[in-house]
Amino acid sequence: MIMITDTRGNIKYVNPRFTQFTGYTSEEVIGKDMRFLKSGEIPPEVFKELWETITSGNEWRGEFCNKKKNGELYWEYAFISPVKNTEGIINHFVAVKADITDLKKSGEKLLESERFEVINTMSLGIAHEFSNILAIIYGYAQLLKENYRESKELMDGLRTICRKVNDGSEIIKKMQEYTNIKKDDTSRFMALDIRDIIKSAIDFTKPRWKDMVLTKGIIYDIDKKGLKKAPTILGNPLKLKEVFVNIINNAVDAMPDGGRISFRTWRKNGSVFISISDTGKGMSEDVQKRVFDPFFTTRRPKGTGLGMSVSYGIIKRHGGEIDVESKSGKGSTFTLKFPINREKARTTESSKPTKQKKAKNLNILVVDDDIKICRILNKFLSKEGHNVRSVDSGDEAIKLLKSEVFDLVLCDLIMPMVTGYDIIRFLNMLDKRPKVGVITGWGEEIGPRMKEDIKVDFVIKKPFDITEISGHINDLFNAE
Ligand SMILES: Nc1ncnc2c1ncn2[C@@H]1O[C@H](COP(=O)(O)OP(=O)(O)OP(=O)(O)O)[C@@H](O)[C@H]1O
Ligand SMILES: [Mg+2]
Repeated sequence: MIMITDTRGNIKYVNPRFTQFTGYTSEEVIGKDMRFLKSGEIPPEVFKELWETITSGNEWRGEFCNKKKNGELYWEYAFISPVKNTEGIINHFVAVKADITDLKKSGEKLLESERFEVINTMSLGIAHEFSNILAIIYGYAQLLKENYRESKELMDGLRTICRKVNDGSEIIKKMQEYTNIKKDDTSRFMALDIRDIIKSAIDFTKPRWKDMVLTKGIIYDIDKKGLKKAPTILGNPLKLKEVFVNIINNAVDAMPDGGRISFRTWRKNGSVFISISDTGKGMSEDVQKRVFDPFFTTRRPKGTGLGMSVSYGIIKRHGGEIDVESKSGKGSTFTLKFPINREKARTTESSKPTKQKKAKNLNILVVDDDIKICRILNKFLSKEGHNVRSVDSGDEAIKLLKSEVFDLVLCDLIMPMVTGYDIIRFLNMLDKRPKVGVITGWGEEIGPRMKEDIKVDFVIKKPFDITEISGHINDLFNAE
């Protein structure tokens, strides 16, 4: 693009590429001060320096952010040189500019991905360490609860500990949602009409904004007119719904006095786009940069700052992208992009309900000479939806195994008389051998050879993390 101005900066000439690119006609710009293109993104010192350079007869080069006629911002790299008349006096400036908007954007993306890597690694580390610590606290609190039922004070305290551990686990789960971008099970994705997901998210959040209408007379206008038919995308409906619920909740939070949330969907170049705009308080540049970071919130102590980071993780695992545009005081727009579903075969699945990942209804036998452990496991596994029998001796276990069929046997190794090893040897002789999980005490190790010999499917150490057991069970029985 080429632009010529006089010494005061008034535009004398622009080339066709300029008018094409910015949307202005020559008539609209000629005679105007070239500063009218300014976006407001460039600090005044830059202009001062530019002006000093060119008025003193030197060439200036640098980057600008300007505004097109339609308000869109663009970045340009400009060479500006003074032009002198025959007497050597400067009478014009010539600017040659190149559009570098895309370049700028890809530069920012790179930084963004590096940033993500750092936060990702950190979150993974914290989530891992803390889930171990919480598991142990939880395990011991449960054991104490079993032992000291008589003391009301102690029971109350232990109950609070367990509740808080649950809160902590929820936070860790959300952190993992943000991080485990690489390992997601796309084989369970199904073809989805994104409009259905949005509508169910709107219904889900309805009680919240409806309640405001009733109690405080605040009005929320939900504008769904822009929800146009778009091709299906592949995804997990529950996870995607969570994304929209988070976005809607944030929009409601940003509009304490009411306002409008508008939804739009469209298709472009192999992708489905969705935008959600609110008329709320908007975000500063700084908040926009950090909105997807885990634990970033401006709503402390009510907000945890995990809503958008969880959503970010979910969207990335769907091969999608999310962007935000906002101005303080002027509302926000989140734009999401997902690849169009190309797998025709899977389309038929869309009407089927989502398959739950959790294994359920298994017949499980628990064997431990410590009756309390039997009780905890029995309670926990029953709550997970399994049919559980527990016995406190190897002898009884073998008797039961002769008469009943189990999917899984969870057993202690070291027991008086008939040991865990004896039970496993017995199981290995059965035609239909149940899966075997071994629970070992402090300091007991099963060597690799022994493991081979007694064929176990997983080993868990005491004090065990109860959720770890259900993890093993889900792994074992979903792999089937
Ligand atoms: N639509 C919006 N308008 C204005 N600010 C927003 C909007 N959406 C997100 N934000 C800003 O981004 C921050 C992070 O959002 P995020 O959903 O991750 O956390 P939160 O809402 O603060 O807490 P929670 O974990 O309860 O969702 C918010 O605290 C808010 O400052
Ligand atoms: Mg939120």
